[in-house]
Amino acid sequence: MAEAEVGDDAYGEDPTVRALEEAFAERVGKEAALFVPSGTMGNQVALRVLAPPGSLAIAGRRQHVVVYENGAAARNAGVQFHLVDDYDGTLDPDGIRWAGTAAEHHQPRPSLVCLENTHMPAGGVPWPVERLYEVAQAAAAAGGLPIHLDGARLFNAEVATGVPAADLAAPATTVMCCLSKGLCAPVGSMLAGPPEVIAAARFERGVLGGQMRQAGVIAAAGLVALQTMVERLADDHRRARRLAEAVADRWPESGCDPASVRTNCVVFRHPSAGALLDHLRTEGIAAGTIAPATVRLMTHHDVDDADVELVVKVLAAAP
Ligand SMILES: Cc1ncc(COP(=O)(O)O)c(C=O)c1O
Repeated sequence: MAEAEVGDDAYGEDPTVRALEEAFAERVGKEAALFVPSGTMGNQVALRVLAPPGSLAIAGRRQHVVVYENGAAARNAGVQFHLVDDYDGTLDPDGIRWAGTAAEHHQPRPSLVCLENTHMPAGGVPWPVERLYEVAQAAAAAGGLPIHLDGARLFNAEVATGVPAADLAAPATTVMCCLSKGLCAPVGSMLAGPPEVIAAARFERGVLGGQMRQAGVIAAAGLVALQTMVERLADDHRRARRLAEAVADRWPESGCDPASVRTNCVVFRHPSAGALLDHLRTEGIAAGTIAPATVRLMTHHDVDDADVELVVKVLAAAP
């Protein structure tokens, strides 16, 4: 970061940002890419480009873009969501086809399908690739709807499934990935897609105040993330599985099935989640809830095997 060559990215003159955008576009099999400050902004910019105000964006009911972005989709893009069940993390193709025909009966016109891979609330599950293609067919049948893929953790899906990120992104018009989170960059996300879509996204990034100047300083960390942090996600996945085994041993009724933990996320039910979080916090372990009585643990680069064994011990003694 200290040695990054920089320029004014508002004029497209930052060589490090450009290198990152090119490297990312190639990595996910798209023609162009845009560096944005956050995953939320990447999702919002995609909505603003692909989903006109007042139109329907079809999405899973627990997806980040629906639940977590401070209501941004309503305020920034003015879209209405048509929510499809995403219990297993994927969307039902029939739900998408139905939304396509519902527009004939007083419902808003669908404009976009939003997917999340890996799907965090379902436990960080990667989509089976066949399901992605079924959904792409449904989107095509529902009036040729474009797909926006929230791939905040797309590389976790790549590592867990062995399917290259470019193939996972192929059915989508746009794909967003975070360079932070598991890839460890301090800041930054990417949005990739066709050149004309990314040109429009560049404009919308400016509208949202996301245009940056000598951003090469942070883009440099993004390049390191992309080049050196993907393969090691397998360690996070292995450690999450170990945590899931400890949870399943301690609370067999928690719905935590270690075999289903394929990435860096462990989600389980606990009747007094608040007390459990307090207990973990006193031992220096940060965890959170994602729904009532539903706890989430995440692993990442700075949680090593010894840390995981400590958590296992603390969980065994937890209320
Ligand atoms: C699936 C998903 N999408 C988007 C985001 C937004 O990323 P950011 O926190 O960089 O805005 C997150 C953040 O946790 C996420 O989990």
